[in-house]
Amino acid sequence: MKEQVQSAEGKLGILLPGLGAVGTTLIAGVIAVNKGIAQPIGALTQMGNIRLGKRTENRYPLIKDFVPLAELSDVVFGGWDVYADNVYEAASKAKVLESSLLDAIRPELEAIVPMKAVFDKSYIKNLDGDNIKKAASKHDLALAVMNDIETFSQKNNCSRVVIVWCGSTEKYLEETDVHQSVEAFEAGLHDNDPAISPSMIYAYAALKLGVPFANGAPNLTCDIPALIQLSKETDTPISGKDFKTGQTLMKTILAPGLHARALGVRGWFSTNILGNRDGLVLDDPDNFKTKEVSKLSVLEDILQPDINPGLYGDLYHKVRINYYPPHGDNKESWDNIDIFGWLGYSMQIKINFLCRDSILAAPIVLDLALFMDLAKRANMSGIQEWLSFYFKSPQTAPGLRPEHDIFKQLIKLQNTLRHMMGEDLITHLGLDYYQDLVEAL
Ligand SMILES: NC(=O)c1ccc[n+]([C@@H]2O[C@H](COP(=O)([O-])OP(=O)(O)OC[C@H]3O[C@@H](n4cnc5c(N)ncnc54)[C@H](O)[C@@H]3O)[C@@H](O)[C@H]2O)c1
Repeated sequence: MKEQVQSAEGKLGILLPGLGAVGTTLIAGVIAVNKGIAQPIGALTQMGNIRLGKRTENRYPLIKDFVPLAELSDVVFGGWDVYADNVYEAASKAKVLESSLLDAIRPELEAIVPMKAVFDKSYIKNLDGDNIKKAASKHDLALAVMNDIETFSQKNNCSRVVIVWCGSTEKYLEETDVHQSVEAFEAGLHDNDPAISPSMIYAYAALKLGVPFANGAPNLTCDIPALIQLSKETDTPISGKDFKTGQTLMKTILAPGLHARALGVRGWFSTNILGNRDGLVLDDPDNFKTKEVSKLSVLEDILQPDINPGLYGDLYHKVRINYYPPHGDNKESWDNIDIFGWLGYSMQIKINFLCRDSILAAPIVLDLALFMDLAKRANMSGIQEWLSFYFKSPQTAPGLRPEHDIFKQLIKLQNTLRHMMGEDLITHLGLDYYQDLVEAL
């Protein structure tokens, strides 16, 4: 397979629908890293290592030295937003990064101005920007997005483009007939079917052009049969949904540990306060419902109460998010976990995570963009389950249970990279060489 992975020559365009807190934190971060004034901490593609071969071989290259990823100096950013603020203005308003950092790269940030968005207030009530495309049908909107992608690519001399959805969470939608095939979806675009949301229009436009599309919000977006089918038809990678940051990241680190030790869990109450624009959007019950569904599935899938009713059969899991402006992007979360051990004796764990939402999300967007581009160059198309590591609600083949355990997700990601590069997969068995070591003593 190694020979089939095309090299990463030329510029990579990273286009983001949504230039809010996460999008601008990513862009400013990459520009600062390229200038040598910051470190890309949290990005596996930049700072992570991968073990190759047996433990005795001591081979731990950086991932970016092992697989052919685009260089950060070859990345060009663009995007769309409902608000016309350039990236300097949007980042200043998001208040994630210090003004001293933003001022040091101000001209580069000011040069990135959002293209007009595909937007409809009926999917997100709490936003009211006016940098919005007007067209007679959803199909015309999709054509306009395709035109944006091609114009951006030509203007910036890109050899490849990827898209990562960093837009707000849309209201909760369920699959309907219009989502079941490419034909039905295209008819729906012409008929302005209300079950086709703006994020689906971006995804459709990307896939038609063979541009990889990752979804960072919990919206259905490309997690529908029509767009999965289209991604296969156009040999394009897709992935989603919902960046795994903050409280869910902690949950998928801790729950596998409790499960591994056969400790019981009776209840897990999670609450959050956050005051950024994401929090404002999620303050609307229709939009919160989309997020809630995404967050709730995690524990059930890791603990599997159906297989282990004695330990997890009575699990009560609750997730709340409250909009609290004074905290801005510095989300605070609390978890109260009621567990039980030997002979049923109860214990409690409390977590109070004072995190920074966009600081956790930005490196995920970078990794996804670079890995999705790699996947495309490795001729991988359709759902990229090996990128589940980055998502709260990983997209999987229909009927397949998603894997939420972050450690299993990491093994899958690393083994996929090894497989791509023709290296041995690592099973952690080690028996084959353990005996030799013992005998050599
Ligand atoms: N920050 C995190 O830790 C985190 C974790 C998981 C998921 N997410 C998701 O990532 C997304 C971005 O988060 P954020 O904190 O940057 O939010 P944000 O509100 O700061 O930014 C989102 C931006 O998207 C824009 N937007 C909305 N609809 C759009 C459309 N149709 N086209 C173009 N732009 C559109 C909004 O105007 C806004 O500027 C949200 O959906 C959020 O739920 C964030």
